[in-house]
Amino acid sequence: MSRVLVIGCGGVANVAIRKCCQVDGVFTELCIASRTKAKCDALAEDLKGTTKTKITTARVNADDVRELVALIKNYKPDLVMNIALPYQDLTIMDACLECGVNYMDTANYEPEDTDDPEWRAIYEKRCREKGFSAYFDYSWQWAYREKFEKAGLTALLGCGFDPGVTQAYCAYAKKHEFDEIDTIDILDCNGGDHGYAFATNFNPEVNLREVSAPGSYWEDGRWIEIPAMSIKREYDFDKVGHKDMYLLHHEEIESLAENIPEVKRIRFFMTFGQSYLTHMKCLENVGMLSTTPINFEGHEIVPIKFLKALLPDPASLGPRTKGKTNIGCIFTGRKDGREKTYYIYNVCDHEECYKEVKSQAINYTTGVPAMCGALMLLTGKWTEKGVHTVEEFDPDPFLDALDKYGLPRSETHEPVLVD
Ligand SMILES: NC(=O)c1ccc[n+]([C@@H]2O[C@H](COP(=O)([O-])OP(=O)(O)OC[C@H]3O[C@@H](n4cnc5c(N)ncnc54)[C@H](OP(=O)(O)O)[C@@H]3O)[C@@H](O)[C@H]2O)c1
Repeated sequence: MSRVLVIGCGGVANVAIRKCCQVDGVFTELCIASRTKAKCDALAEDLKGTTKTKITTARVNADDVRELVALIKNYKPDLVMNIALPYQDLTIMDACLECGVNYMDTANYEPEDTDDPEWRAIYEKRCREKGFSAYFDYSWQWAYREKFEKAGLTALLGCGFDPGVTQAYCAYAKKHEFDEIDTIDILDCNGGDHGYAFATNFNPEVNLREVSAPGSYWEDGRWIEIPAMSIKREYDFDKVGHKDMYLLHHEEIESLAENIPEVKRIRFFMTFGQSYLTHMKCLENVGMLSTTPINFEGHEIVPIKFLKALLPDPASLGPRTKGKTNIGCIFTGRKDGREKTYYIYNVCDHEECYKEVKSQAINYTTGVPAMCGALMLLTGKWTEKGVHTVEEFDPDPFLDALDKYGLPRSETHEPVLVD
């Protein structure tokens, strides 16, 4: 029996909320709060009569700590699930601390305005010291560790698929398969086709920023940064087939390097089709990916926000997308003195997802782990106080929940390795 406040009502939140409503006896009351209350009301209406969960809705500007505190104090939830945007992570964490409530999210903090001089100075120092230049990193949220510990609260960071399940796979490999892990390759393949020449699978602003940034990986205790999309491999994915994939920077590399320090190399690859890459390069070249406001005919516009308005809404891709995703981790290392390899992954079908929750597999593979992470916190399976990423918790009950609620694992001990 618990009360949960979900902040955000976009693609991922829609799936997470629908899945919460499928779990008997845990998510007894849910408040869906977002910037546009009409979206929360529409979802609540759609769920009416299909679930025992008592759903209410609210409007909140999650950039404003006072508004959040007022909402949390009024609703008195056991957990706040932040499924808004990474821009709101810190304000929501502040509000949770002030109200004494556990927190979770699906992506680590990044600022909305990367030209803000105060943020920029800290960012540039971090780039010099750490050696990677992504706009997002864990330092902002790890700075809350002591505060959450002292308050006796838990903040669970990045509990989607990647980050999220990929780290649980790493914890599982460490617990059950290896004495020592040497390398981790995280492979994220979307074999889906939505029929558009160009569209992003989740929030376009967050997605395009991530993909157009330099890539980086962890090797021998340091970051190696490479120009965007400059390392390409081909891989034959189970149930999907051959795809081109590119090395990207990804947030879980940073926490895995800290939490499994013996690992010599951690890389992240994501598949992209040629049409996506050509469109993205062109948009970048003409300045459409910029977050710096420009004056256009007397109006101030942010190019990437304008682009977002032009692109198909990721939520609209659901009914059109066919094919499967395949996301997982390949490990090399040793067990009982012998070299071994291991690949653990999930295959998810876009059309099946749409049938179940009216959303494609990208939102499904993020929303289901968000629900399962909340389930771990609410049922006392994950109780560690402080600010933690998924690999720091016991992977077993989490992976069991994923198996049960729609993202079952597959595994092989003889994977083809990525060179
Ligand atoms: N870990 C993973 O595997 C993974 C994968 C994909 C996405 N993600 C993360 O999941 C999160 C949600 O992504 P999404 O694709 O669902 O995004 P989305 O469809 O754009 O939804 C974002 C939601 O947050 C709301 N919102 C934005 N700013 C707000 C504010 N200031 N106050 C209150 N609500 C606000 C939006 O309200 P409006 O309706 O008013 O715009 C919208 O409902 C993002 O953090 C994304 O990075 C994680």
